[in-house]
Amino acid sequence: MLAQTPPMGWNSWNTFGDNIDEALIRDTIDVFVNEGLRDAGYTYVVIDDLWAADKRVNGRLTWDTAKFPNGIKALSDYAHSQGLKFGMYSCAGTHTCGNQLASYGHEEIDAQTFAEWGVDFLKYDYCHVPAGVNGPMLFRRMGQALRATGRPIVYSICEWGTNKPWEWGAQAGGHMWRTTGDIADSWESILDIGFQRQAELAPYAGPGHWNDPDMLVVGMYGKGNVAQGGCTDAEYRCHFALWCLLAAPLMIGCDVRSMNQTTRDILLNHELIAVNQDPLGRQGYRVGQVDYAYEIAETWAKPLLDGSIAVGMFNLGKRQQRLVSAPWESLGLHPERACQVRDLWTGENLGVFTACFSAHVASHDVTMIKITPIA
Ligand code: GLA
Repeated sequence: MLAQTPPMGWNSWNTFGDNIDEALIRDTIDVFVNEGLRDAGYTYVVIDDLWAADKRVNGRLTWDTAKFPNGIKALSDYAHSQGLKFGMYSCAGTHTCGNQLASYGHEEIDAQTFAEWGVDFLKYDYCHVPAGVNGPMLFRRMGQALRATGRPIVYSICEWGTNKPWEWGAQAGGHMWRTTGDIADSWESILDIGFQRQAELAPYAGPGHWNDPDMLVVGMYGKGNVAQGGCTDAEYRCHFALWCLLAAPLMIGCDVRSMNQTTRDILLNHELIAVNQDPLGRQGYRVGQVDYAYEIAETWAKPLLDGSIAVGMFNLGKRQQRLVSAPWESLGLHPERACQVRDLWTGENLGVFTACFSAHVASHDVTMIKITPIA
C-alpha cells in the first residue's frame, strides 16, 4: 500500500525549472542523506519538467544527454543506493507544460519505461491535452498503465483542481492530486492556496489519497523559478505548519545544498512532521476565524490517532502581536476537560489547561500546539 501517509521529498521545479542536471540531483541526494532529510522522512527525490530529449527513440521517451550524460537509470540507482526513492515527471497531453514530448497516446510504453528506470513516483501534468478529450479519463489511463507495470509507483495527479480531482483522483489510481494552480514564493500565494482554497477539501483526504496544495517554498527567499519576492521566516513557518495540518504532501522546493539554519529548523522539526505523518491520516480544518480590518486570525485543527489534537494558531493580519485562542468547544472537547498543552516548535510542555488555550502570536506567524486530553 503506497502513500499511507502523505509523501515527503523534494522536487526540482520551484527553484531550478530548466536548470537541472545530473550533478544537481546527485548533490541533492547527498544532502538528503548528510543533513538528515532522509532520516526525517523525506524520501522521494523528483525530477520535474524539462528532462527529456526532443525525439522518441524506438517509441520511447529518452533523456536530454547534455543534462544527464549517464542517463536516468544511473540516477535512480544512485537514489536507491542511498536509501531514497526516485521520481519523474510527464504530462497527459501531447507536450509537457515546458513544451517537451509527453505521454498522450503513449501511456503504456511510457509507464513501462519509467518502471524500467526504477521510478517510484510519477508527477503527471495537464498541459497540451487535445481539445474534446476527457481529462479525468486521461489520468485514469495513466493510472492503469502504471498499475499494469507491477511496480509500486506513487501517482501524483497535477491538473490544478480543474475537474475537481478530489472527486475522482483516487479511483483514477492517484495517490495525491494538486488542488490549485502553481504556488509562488510569496505570502499572498500561501494565503490564497493554503488558507483560502483547502478548507473545504478535508473530507477527500486519507491514507493513500491526499489533497496536494503544491510544493513547499520554505527556504527559497525569493530565489529561483517560482520566486516572487520571497517570504519572511515567520511566513515560512506558517506555510509549513499549515501544510502539516493539512496532511499535505511535503515536497521541498528550495535548494537544499544551501539551506540556512532557519530553513533546516522548519523542515526538520520532527514534531510538526509527526503531525503531518500521523497514521490516522485526517486532513485538518479551520475551527476559528476572526476577520475584520487588519485583524485576521485563524485556528486550524487536526485530530491525531492517539486522541490528541494538533492546533495551529495563526496571526494572518498586520497587528504586530495578537491574542489567538483555541476554545475547547471549537475542538469538540468539553470545556472542563483537562488537557496537556505542548508547544510543537520548541517541544516544551506548557502545562495543563481547561476550557481554552490562548497565545500572543506575532504578525504572519503561528503558534503550533498539541492538546492532549488527560485520561
Ligand atoms: C505545471 C505544474 C508545475 C510544474 C510545471 C512544469 O505548471 O503545475 O508544478 O510541473 O508545469 O512545466
